[in-house]
Amino acid sequence: MYIVQIASECAPAIKAGGLGDVVYGISRELESRGHTVEIILPMYDCMRYDHIWGLHDAYKDLTVPWYGGEIHCSVYCGWVHGQVCFFIEPHSDDRFFQRGCYYGCGDDNMRFAFFSKAAIEFLLRSNKRPDILHCHDWQTGLVPVMLFEIYKYQWMEYQRVCFTIHNFKHQGMGGSEILRATGLNREAYYFSDQRLQDNSNPFALNFIKGGIVYSNYVTTVSPQHAWEASNTEVGCGLGHTLYLNQHKFKGVLNGIDYDFWSPETDRYIPTNYSSATLAEKAQSKKALRSRLLLREVDRPIIAYIGRLDDQKGVHLVHHAMYYALSRSAQFVLLGSPTEAVISDWFWHEKRFLNDNSDVHLELSFNEELSHLIYAGADMIVVPSNYEPCGLTQMIGLKYGTVPIVRGVGGLVNTVFDRDYDRTHPPEQRNGYVFYQTDFTALESAMDRAIGLWENYPEQFEELVIQGMSYDYSWKNPATEYLEIYESIRYQW
Ligand code: GLC
Repeated sequence: MYIVQIASECAPAIKAGGLGDVVYGISRELESRGHTVEIILPMYDCMRYDHIWGLHDAYKDLTVPWYGGEIHCSVYCGWVHGQVCFFIEPHSDDRFFQRGCYYGCGDDNMRFAFFSKAAIEFLLRSNKRPDILHCHDWQTGLVPVMLFEIYKYQWMEYQRVCFTIHNFKHQGMGGSEILRATGLNREAYYFSDQRLQDNSNPFALNFIKGGIVYSNYVTTVSPQHAWEASNTEVGCGLGHTLYLNQHKFKGVLNGIDYDFWSPETDRYIPTNYSSATLAEKAQSKKALRSRLLLREVDRPIIAYIGRLDDQKGVHLVHHAMYYALSRSAQFVLLGSPTEAVISDWFWHEKRFLNDNSDVHLELSFNEELSHLIYAGADMIVVPSNYEPCGLTQMIGLKYGTVPIVRGVGGLVNTVFDRDYDRTHPPEQRNGYVFYQTDFTALESAMDRAIGLWENYPEQFEELVIQGMSYDYSWKNPATEYLEIYESIRYQW
């Protein structure tokens, strides 16, 4: 099959969150099975050019119709760690992708509406006719809308779209200017409940809703989150739309790339290890302590790795740190705050705890250090408010670091409570799960984990080994996506 991914991120060249990892990971796995995969991305000024190899002109004179006129674009081609990517660079005073950031501009909806239009124009003009367009998140929600309303009548009749939603919180909104800019026009037609009209604001068009309504198939990134999005407030107003489209909607659990995330081959840890040589994990613990100036004691290290924001349950992260200290455990935090209040709060904590040799806060994103933390810690907490899939718990499991997670979204589909899980026999359980958002719930799960580590080290080791035996690679998800692609490929 010939598959084109259209997305706003592809790790490690363009990565703001898990979306980037997923776009890269799935593409690589599909290609390794003999499919042709290409990725279309915006040409951001601030992307990591050092992760792009052989960047060259691919298509010089792409003119993209935009508001009655047109915007001239150049398209470049390059390889991001082996994956072919096309980067679209518009030349206009809007400077859509020359903002020094990926997201967060007042005109983000216009920037990505343009990108969506330009991506299809590029396929059309360069005579690429993929079997499947796989679009991701609100940034590309208008791709299926334009494909089936405009381009289908311009020699793009056989293309089919799979749309994956990684986060329902960001939906992409706009007014009638979006219709005029993209050439969709026909206000009365699109401002309809059955098409793009937002479910709560009748004066807004909703990009993700458009993606759901028009795509041949829609996925989110775990089965549990698919259920939550359809039935709870986690769907952020799209529950009804998902209900109406349930025949073409499901959750497919993400994978992680074991070429990059495996203690057996990891280049950033002092000694490689597997479940057969688990004793070597202690080397990483030692190295982590010496790097972060933590004292050497016979106590567990508990870690948090990820963004520091409301989605990730920042109050519980904070509490986990103090609870760990109260239990004489050590705590390591690697997190990037996304808002000024959270940043101030954690910088304050960092200064306050500066002389405490049982805790370290690293308030930035550091890929290399994250590998050492995954390997060196004994447990990792993921207390998210909501979590469509979550990648850190899966990486933790692979590194023999026991996850302590809140029972939401993909966390429910990947972590099975050692003491209380009802669906897996004891020999298949791999971590600790709590459900409520209060401190007591978190503490009770942490207490059980720390207690096992202290009092029953052999049983703790068994739990570690059980976790390491899980296969959360891209193998199964890629098979599921291929089944979806096959099922829509010849659909009318
Ligand atoms: C988003 C979600 C996260 C998911 C990732 C990749 O960042 O918040 O849960 O793992 O996308 O799909």
